[in-house]
Amino acid sequence: MDPFEVYGDVPAMWLRVGMVVSADGSATDEQGWTGGLGGEADFRVFRALRALADGILVGAATIRTGRVGPHRLRAELRARREAIGKPGPAPIVVVTGSLDLDWELPLFTSAESPTLVVTCTNALDGATVPDAVRPHVFTAGADSVDLDLAVNELHYRFGLGHLLCEGGPDLATGLIGAGLVDELCLNIAPTFVGARHHTPLLTALPRRVESSLRAVYEDEGVVFLRYELR
Ligand SMILES: NC(=O)c1ccc[n+]([C@@H]2O[C@H](COP(=O)([O-])OP(=O)(O)OC[C@H]3O[C@@H](n4cnc5c(N)ncnc54)[C@H](OP(=O)(O)O)[C@@H]3O)[C@@H](O)[C@H]2O)c1
Repeated sequence: MDPFEVYGDVPAMWLRVGMVVSADGSATDEQGWTGGLGGEADFRVFRALRALADGILVGAATIRTGRVGPHRLRAELRARREAIGKPGPAPIVVVTGSLDLDWELPLFTSAESPTLVVTCTNALDGATVPDAVRPHVFTAGADSVDLDLAVNELHYRFGLGHLLCEGGPDLATGLIGAGLVDELCLNIAPTFVGARHHTPLLTALPRRVESSLRAVYEDEGVVFLRYELR
């Protein structure tokens, strides 16, 4: 499978959630991260989904793990991305209701495409945000981030048509619950992490959501499911 090609078959305006789970349904490994789940096959799809996107949404709790760096494109993916008219890496877009973030992370100090931060007005009032980051912070909503408004701003103010949400579960649940997600790309790793380290893929979805299965792929034992949600 060539993930850049097969996952590239979507419209310019798209919101895709891309996540990996263990075979027993956990969104984290024993370290509370995802690196121990899907191996190289999962990383290939992960990198392709990033290379196809215009913006990459990530929840603040995932940023606080300290493991999310700026989007860096490998030479081959950069060339293929440029060939479809997308220069430079897609910016990461951090969703936070608290602005409780480590501004010294490379994500905020050395991203080729500056990291965007979407928060709410009550959090931004009186918050200390470094001067270099401030121009890239915007608000959507008063007490919490209005995800519908935030996605609309990213599409139409920032011109980011194709959005990828990499999680975590809380942000993915909010987007799916708000009916904003077109596609869930779920990568199922052939690993059972057990109950002690289990993190549900979605937290508390407020309603039933129907989907249709768009495609199934397999690579090195990882099963790649694509659900269309609307
Ligand atoms: N399996 C995978 O593919 C995958 C992918 C990513 C992460 N993960 C794992 O997931 C875990 C973290 O996930 P998580 O569910 O705890 O958190 P998360 O979704 O990464 O982040 C949740 C945070 O995002 C902000 N947020 C989300 N929706 C918001 C809204 N509508 N308004 C305001 N703020 C909003 C809040 O930040 P504030 O607290 O700043 O208000 C909230 O606490 C980590 O262990 C990580 O390793 C797994």
